[in-house]
Amino acid sequence: MSDILLEIQNLELRYGAAVAVRDISLKVKRGQLVAVIGNNGAGKSSMVRGATGLVRPSGGKVFFRGEDTTTLRADRKAARGLVMVPEGRLLFPDQTVEDNLILGAYLRGGLKSEGSRATLDRVLELFPRLRERMQQQAGSLSGGEQQMLAIARGLMGQPELLVIDEVSLGLAPKIVDQLMKVLAALNQEGLTILLVEQLASYALAIADYGFVVANGRIAHEGSSTALSHNPDVIEAFLGKKKSTPVPTKPKE
Ligand SMILES: Nc1ncnc2c1ncn2[C@@H]1O[C@H](COP(=O)(O)OP(=O)(O)O)[C@@H](O)[C@H]1O
Ligand SMILES: [Mg+2]
Repeated sequence: MSDILLEIQNLELRYGAAVAVRDISLKVKRGQLVAVIGNNGAGKSSMVRGATGLVRPSGGKVFFRGEDTTTLRADRKAARGLVMVPEGRLLFPDQTVEDNLILGAYLRGGLKSEGSRATLDRVLELFPRLRERMQQQAGSLSGGEQQMLAIARGLMGQPELLVIDEVSLGLAPKIVDQLMKVLAALNQEGLTILLVEQLASYALAIADYGFVVANGRIAHEGSSTALSHNPDVIEAFLGKKKSTPVPTKPKE
């Protein structure tokens, strides 16, 4: 069995004439938690859409578990264990929490299969709030609960690699902290995670390895410790915002 779960080689992705991903190569090893950080518009979401099959890349290759999956549709990749929690969550707001979870298990035989029922138990153990709200409409949940549901729905697909695009979007720091702890715990249990996140400090705090995307390319990569000490990364993503110097009033 290959040590490398996902390998993206020289990915290029366009929307019409606009190039969103110019040349991205990265590897995710089995068992790792890998962070992808970068500013808004850098090409992170496009990269994961290309990797998971939601958008067909215009160049490069995507291997999953050693298989060339470049042109496979997203559902075929999900059936192989490559599952994405999309940016903005994309829940079914009018459906109940339970129905959203069942939809996540669609490719695993719904709740009829033993595997899905065991996964549901585990998921509700991780997110007890969802158990309390099983019959509520997903749209009535708080932002944090919706993100929990989006992650839980992804887990119902029994992923080998879970790709999560922007956990923190619109959430209070305390909630982001809680969700990051859950992701770290899932990784400790053996789940491989590719975490795309604008809030670099949160992502690097739990990641083994990281990539910085800028202008559709990889600008830096390294262990999360190395990236956290890289002056360019600190300046762009980790450093405190430079405050505007307050003009001192001349003494009269
Ligand atoms: N559906 C789309 N159609 C056209 N351009 C898009 C689309 N999605 C993203 N882009 C453009 O692609 C570039 C990369 O965006 P995106 O992948 O969303 O970056 P990030 O996730 O890092 O914020 C941006 O210039 C963005 O405007
Ligand atoms: Mg994005």
